[in-house]
Amino acid sequence: MDLFAFKTLLVLLSFIGCCAGNVLPPGPVDAKLGTNVTLKTLIGKAELAVIIWTFKTDGEPIPVATSSSGTLQPVKEPYIGRVSINKTNGYLTLGPLTTEDSGVYTITTVSADTQTGDIELRVLVPVSDVTITSNVPEAVEHNSTVVLTCKAKGSFLKFTWLKGTTPIVPDGKHFAEKSDETSSVLTINHVLRTDLIGSIYCSVANSLETEKSAPFNLTVHYGPDEVTITPLAPPKVIRAKSNFNLTCSARSNPPATFTWYHGEQMMENSGPVLTLEVIEKHRLGAKEEAYTCRATNAKTQRTVPSPAVSFAVMEAISGSKVSGPTATLIAGNSTANLSCQATAGTVKTISWLKDGKALSAGGRHVFATDMSSMMINLLQKEDNGEYTCQLTNPVNTDKATYKMVVNYGPEGVKVDGPEAVEMNDIVELICSAASVPPANFTWKFNGTMTAIKTAKYRIDMARYKNSGTYTCEAHNDVTDKTTTHTHTLSVKEEGALDEGLSDGAIAGIVIAILVALGAAIALIVYCRQKVPVESPY
Ligand SMILES: *[C@@H]1O[C@H](CO)[C@@H](O)[C@H](O)[C@H]1NC(C)=O
Ligand SMILES: *[C@@H]1O[C@H](CO)[C@@H](O)[C@H](O)[C@H]1NC(C)=O
Ligand SMILES: *[C@@H]1O[C@H](CO)[C@@H](O)[C@H](O)[C@H]1NC(C)=O
Ligand SMILES: *[C@@H]1O[C@H](CO)[C@@H](O)[C@H](O)[C@H]1NC(C)=O
Ligand SMILES: *[C@@H]1O[C@H](CO)[C@@H](O)[C@H](O)[C@H]1NC(C)=O
Ligand SMILES: *[C@@H]1O[C@H](CO)[C@@H](O)[C@H](O)[C@H]1NC(C)=O
Ligand SMILES: *[C@@H]1O[C@H](CO)[C@@H](O)[C@H](O)[C@H]1NC(C)=O
Repeated sequence: MDLFAFKTLLVLLSFIGCCAGNVLPPGPVDAKLGTNVTLKTLIGKAELAVIIWTFKTDGEPIPVATSSSGTLQPVKEPYIGRVSINKTNGYLTLGPLTTEDSGVYTITTVSADTQTGDIELRVLVPVSDVTITSNVPEAVEHNSTVVLTCKAKGSFLKFTWLKGTTPIVPDGKHFAEKSDETSSVLTINHVLRTDLIGSIYCSVANSLETEKSAPFNLTVHYGPDEVTITPLAPPKVIRAKSNFNLTCSARSNPPATFTWYHGEQMMENSGPVLTLEVIEKHRLGAKEEAYTCRATNAKTQRTVPSPAVSFAVMEAISGSKVSGPTATLIAGNSTANLSCQATAGTVKTISWLKDGKALSAGGRHVFATDMSSMMINLLQKEDNGEYTCQLTNPVNTDKATYKMVVNYGPEGVKVDGPEAVEMNDIVELICSAASVPPANFTWKFNGTMTAIKTAKYRIDMARYKNSGTYTCEAHNDVTDKTTTHTHTLSVKEEGALDEGLSDGAIAGIVIAILVALGAAIALIVYCRQKVPVESPY
């Protein structure tokens, strides 16, 4: 059938008054480039005398294929070898498809009556080459407007932006999107650090397939923010040469660099840590000063200061020493000056203790206004003891002690021992006295010096001649004082002292007799009362 005959047939058929029934389903039909497509009909079973498929893009329709009496009529270019018609249901199979095959296909069937129908075929070029490009290689948070462009090859494309697996929903302000058939532009105004965390993808789809771009990363520089300094509340005074330092940190991308200041003055120190050693090297710390760090981000060109921390640096007290009198001290005649010094450190307060108890001014104790020395005017024996001077500053306490020896006495001389003994008894008389240094003792018997030079005077076997007066003489070599005490001893014949009972024994016997007597009386009274009760007569 040549073109003229074909046109004539169409004219004839339309002239017959053809009926446009439901021959074809609603379109369009999408098919992938290079594949075969079958355009289906709704005809079903009836044997068809003539089936004519035509194709139309812009101009006149051109014949694709005609089946008449079940035989496919010869076809022309570009359909040779590319088409077939199922004579039973009129399906047209076409392929492999080229982009030129996109267009409207019309079927005309002639059997008992004539029917026509149209359907659009869209030959889809596969989605490929999905790429994301950015207007900037890196961005600054809040400042940058990032424009991402997604391009892809293919036809009838729809674009979607994803962050990870979550679609980005444009709000028209922060995220704005503009798409056409071949590209999509995502504009992120005043980009935030969180906007591009995790990978960004562009997903491109047509009705048949979806292609995703490679993950796209863009660094958003931000910060520094949350600039912190630790410790935030250090002690007001730091011990010199101790292991103390300040550390600065900030959230920043890229990581911040740090500079340190005391007051408004920059310090020669880089890095996030400022050590006490550096502060001391700067000869700072004598007075309380404020320290801050400033964090700088080279990319965002922002510098943020940390809160300020203040402290002073103080040397610990060491080498404390109490100096006291070197001369011999005598109670009631000497005065003592104690003074206290340290070889290093700043002393803030001084206190004095004697034998662990605080000493205060008053009486014989006079303190220098700065408490560095103390005078005891006219020493007494009570002043013997250990004196402690306690030097304190905010970082430590150091102490030193001095042992004071005040010579005195002898005082309160006494002799312990029996006043009466029997013949042959052993006798020990012991002399004692309060004295510093300890007293030397000598004994006199009946006023005559003896050879005994110890505190104890011992008589191994008493004789009558040992009766008499024993005088202990206590002598202190330093005070050069002597004090005496006289004790009288009488020696009696054997048994003279243990005759009779002692007063205690006599008292005991008396009490025992009285108790027994009382019990007897009570028993008698009791029995007498009972007798009339038992006898009714
Ligand atoms: C497509 O159709 C042609 C001819 O119509 C046929 O030779 C070919 O095998 C078909 N290809 C597929 C994938 O069905
Ligand atoms: C034509 O279509 C009918 C019904 O759908 C089917 O049974 C038959 O196999 C088809 N013929 C060809 C040649 O594909
Ligand atoms: C993008 O970021 C992911 C993780 O966030 C990382 O694994 C990947 O290597 C990055 N890719 C590029 C090109 O930087
Ligand atoms: C960011 O914006 C501020 C104010 O708009 C500007 O002063 C600053 O220089 C900008 N920073 C960068 C790195 O462009
Ligand atoms: C007391 O001191 C004075 C002078 O300081 C001295 O002459 C005197 O001998 C002293 N007395 C005693 C008991 O040491
Ligand atoms: C003790 O110190 C006071 C005041 O500093 C001084 O007047 C006095 O002479 C000193 N006494 C002695 C015994 O050093
Ligand atoms: C010591 O004196 C006492 C009483 O004065 C006297 O009884 C005694 O005989 C004297 N003893 C000696 C050994 O002189």
